[in-house]
Amino acid sequence: MTARIAVLSPQVADQIAAGEVVERPASVVKELVENALDAGAHAIRVEIEDGGKSLIRVSDDGEGMTRADAELAVSRHATSKIREAADLIGVATFGFRGEALPAIASVSRFELITSPDGQTGTRLHLVGGKRERVEETARQRGTTVTVRGLFFNLPARRKFLRAQATETRAVVDALTPLALTRPDVAFTLTSDERTLVDVRPAARPIDRLYALWGRTLADTLVPIAHREGPLDVRGFAQRPADAKPAGRKGYVFVRGRSIRDLFLLRAAEAGYRSAVAPGDRPSLILALELPGDAVDVNVHPAKLEVRFRDRFFVAKVVEEAVRQALGPLVAAAPLVGAGVGVGAVVGGGGDSWAEGPAASAAGAPAELFPTAAVASAPRSATPLLQVFDSYIIFQSDSGVAIVDQHSAHERVLFEGVMRQLAGDGAPAQRLLLPWTLEFTAPELEVIDVHRELLARVGFELEPFSGRSVVVHAAPNPHPRFDAARCLQELVADLAGGRFGGLANRLERFAATFACRAAIKAGQPLELAEMGELITQLLRATLPAHDVHGRPTIVQLARGELERRFGRA
Ligand SMILES: Nc1ncnc2c1ncn2[C@@H]1O[C@H](COP(=O)(O)OP(=O)(O)OP(=O)(O)O)[C@@H](O)[C@H]1O
Ligand SMILES: [Mg+2]
Repeated sequence: MTARIAVLSPQVADQIAAGEVVERPASVVKELVENALDAGAHAIRVEIEDGGKSLIRVSDDGEGMTRADAELAVSRHATSKIREAADLIGVATFGFRGEALPAIASVSRFELITSPDGQTGTRLHLVGGKRERVEETARQRGTTVTVRGLFFNLPARRKFLRAQATETRAVVDALTPLALTRPDVAFTLTSDERTLVDVRPAARPIDRLYALWGRTLADTLVPIAHREGPLDVRGFAQRPADAKPAGRKGYVFVRGRSIRDLFLLRAAEAGYRSAVAPGDRPSLILALELPGDAVDVNVHPAKLEVRFRDRFFVAKVVEEAVRQALGPLVAAAPLVGAGVGVGAVVGGGGDSWAEGPAASAAGAPAELFPTAAVASAPRSATPLLQVFDSYIIFQSDSGVAIVDQHSAHERVLFEGVMRQLAGDGAPAQRLLLPWTLEFTAPELEVIDVHRELLARVGFELEPFSGRSVVVHAAPNPHPRFDAARCLQELVADLAGGRFGGLANRLERFAATFACRAAIKAGQPLELAEMGELITQLLRATLPAHDVHGRPTIVQLARGELERRFGRA
């Protein structure tokens, strides 16, 4: 009888590993480019043909390999990056398993040309993981890996590859986060001779964003820079008014490595606190630095996920980081064309990140995104003038600001109501003569469901006969407040499902109340009232955005005025 159990041949083992690491051309590109970055490359060239299905080639100018190392590199569990299990904790290179090259080689026609010194070079040729040829060749220092006929020996997997355009898009999507992580490295991607990515080394991350996505998007981003305990959060958050329902960019980097983490993106979105219109999604680029022992990067075959020791702490800090980024006036919309107002992205000095992989290997925070020079909100602001009975013009520390009185008041009231809902509620005024108001059936239902919340903002209601409700107490948030009208509009909005897009029920209620309780456009205001509104607005957590995702403030930077008048 033959034995039932046998040890798999290395080739079969490699193919099984390939099932985890190599899913499609994009995953090959990711692994090869990560290797190039680990090898200290300054310029990386990626070429694909037919979406990578017929050819993928990645060339770098990194440290290259000797012949002996090259031969080892294509065998399983050969890695130069760790030696012992202990090294796994906090490993800072992209690769560390010694699995990618043999896995890729096992499912393709694979060629590796490499030289450590520009003198001696090695060319290695494998077919389906079997070594066919090793020979000497000439090459400049660096490495070129060419992968042809991906999955040629696994027809079932090859069948699952998608149309050329889809695979090409996936390759771009795989390359983009790597290009974001390392603005100091030049990247090119050509697809059937067409150049899709061509970015030269950039001094600052924001310059890399410009190069990849253009100014139109980059100018809508404000920098994030926040630290709490061991966690440092950098990156960019999109101004709420620029968020769109589709096509947002969402990237999370942990210790310089791109991961998929919807949980953290959600946490970042929570930082917007109803400043984004329902249904719109802001672009977010989050770069987290934390000590290696606070995060396990060794949990996913393609290293796309990490495990935090305390993910709720991380989420809380990310949310706070976004809130702070959107808080100051720097997040206010610029008055004139993108990029010239105070609202334009402010990047810090460009030298701290540029040390490259060595610095990230040391776990030094902050090299990915430099400290953002976040302008602080003015401590004092003098209202100057109300125009069209709707806008207030005032001078801020950095220029001239124009505030939409309704949006601004809405933001102020919203934040106040959120505090009241969480705390003791609002002071209510007992009415000497209670009023009676009529409502429709669905509105009465809404009143019933929201009784507790209505009480917290100061409405004390009692159902009366038929469709009428008696109001015993009402809030009085400002002298121009019309309590009966506010209550009717608030209840009608809630019944009509307005703000339905806001996920959080409290926020939905608060936004609706704020919208209906705020002073309206077209309301003439006294100078003292304007002053009070501006003061309260600048004290708000997110002063620059109302609860619909619209700006509350637009700014004309002083520098822009000087430029226009030829003074600068
Ligand atoms: N472009 C390159 N330049 C220089 N050395 C390279 C390059 N690509 C691979 N190597 C060497 O080959 C080894 C094996 O690469 P491979 O990608 O298979 O494993 P790894 O990067 O160590 O780990 P992982 O499987 O997690 O990617 C690397 O550890 C490295 O020493
Ligand atoms: Mg690797």
